[in-house]
Amino acid sequence: FNYECEAYRIYTIEYIGVTTKEERQSICKEVGYNTFLLPSKDVGIDLLTDSGTCAQTTIQWSKYNEGDETPASSKDYFEMVDMLKEVTGYNYIIPTHQGRAAEHIMSQILIKDGFVPGNMYFTTTKLHQEMAGGTFVDVICDEAHDPQSDFIWKGNIDIKKIETILDEHGEGSIPYISFEFSVNLAGGQPVSMDNVREVYLFCKAHNIPVMFDATRAVENAYMIKKKDERYHHVPIKDILRELFSYGDGCTVSSKKDYLVNIGGFLGIREDQDFYEKALSMIRIYEGTRTTGGMSAGDMSMHAEGVREMLDFNYIMARVEQTQYLGNRLLDAGIPIVEPIGTHAVFIDAKRFLPHIDQDKYPAQSLASELYIESGIRAMERGNVSSGRNRITGENYRPCLELVRLTIPRRAYTKSHMDLVADSIIELYKRRDEIKGLEFVYEPENLRFFQGKFEHV
Ligand code: F0G
Repeated sequence: FNYECEAYRIYTIEYIGVTTKEERQSICKEVGYNTFLLPSKDVGIDLLTDSGTCAQTTIQWSKYNEGDETPASSKDYFEMVDMLKEVTGYNYIIPTHQGRAAEHIMSQILIKDGFVPGNMYFTTTKLHQEMAGGTFVDVICDEAHDPQSDFIWKGNIDIKKIETILDEHGEGSIPYISFEFSVNLAGGQPVSMDNVREVYLFCKAHNIPVMFDATRAVENAYMIKKKDERYHHVPIKDILRELFSYGDGCTVSSKKDYLVNIGGFLGIREDQDFYEKALSMIRIYEGTRTTGGMSAGDMSMHAEGVREMLDFNYIMARVEQTQYLGNRLLDAGIPIVEPIGTHAVFIDAKRFLPHIDQDKYPAQSLASELYIESGIRAMERGNVSSGRNRITGENYRPCLELVRLTIPRRAYTKSHMDLVADSIIELYKRRDEIKGLEFVYEPENLRFFQGKFEHV
């Protein structure tokens, strides 16, 4: 598991934004201190997201050009579906244009009411569950809410928390379990193979389907290979196949581990009724059943992305690049979520800015200051992202108040990571000068995308 250098050589280049600190100060004020709203041309190193930001290989581009463009059944549709059937072991694969489209369809078909347990929320996933009439219940292990706990499987589900829901609301109150791999908002934290198996056996005994959010399944498989000695010599492909075997279906945003910049899919192991209903929704909301709103070129590129994501050298360099950045910050005493996750390093804003109350949005403020300091764009994942309780109107004030430094796949080098680390270390030295924020514009749903702030 040695990371010496990137697993690629650069073929096409894109210049990054160059601005002065004064310019960044005025740009940031103009966009209301919301890094989502920064014009990308003014961003230096862009760590907003690892979603749809991956560099494609020469093979992927040639596949793209070979796309047989038709809304009917192109060869590219079959190639993508066959690859995904092989990886998941599921009978049915339905392409969608993004992950949230698959979430929408699954939630509408499977949820009428009741409680949907999940290992921490993801913004769009939870919203779709709520819009279908369900109530999300967080059943992730307690360690996941403690940024300083060094438990290595912080993505795990605590089965006792599912039992509590069944005790309180009865059998039949859970339409399905929403089980995410390499849990994004917990800090990119993996789930252990034993936990996935145990949750599946428990759910089988209670007739509850297990539905994965397998968006970052490959990163999770890599962590199992690295951290669980029984899997050191097992190929990534076989680890993935075993993970998928402990579930009944999945939603995926392919814009992450599946190495494409647009696309997703819904996978269903064997429930034909669910499959038929999903196909009819695809025609209403997405496009045809053989495109899901994707072009044939996108599907062809996706099939190749799946082939490439299984390469051990690629996934090792990808996750170890994240580990490298995290370790540089830890060595300098910067408070980050530990253990270091797979797709991103998360700065613990509560410990970085202890003088700012959570209702003054320390993580939002830190993300905007990092941009002003260095031109690096990060994303708030804390009180702003988790929103307000619809009944009380209060902010949720989640345990985790984080700034996410999300690393695009195959896009940046070790020297970019060094610059990011050096800039954060500089900012830490003047952390006492950083002020909190208040909303000047607050949208009702998913407020982190469009909200605007001013310094308090
Ligand atoms: N599930 C997870 C775990 C995600 O991280 C995302 C997107 C989605 C579902 C939704 O997929 O964007 O294709 O519709 N995460 C991005 C991020 C937006 O930056 O973390 P989508």
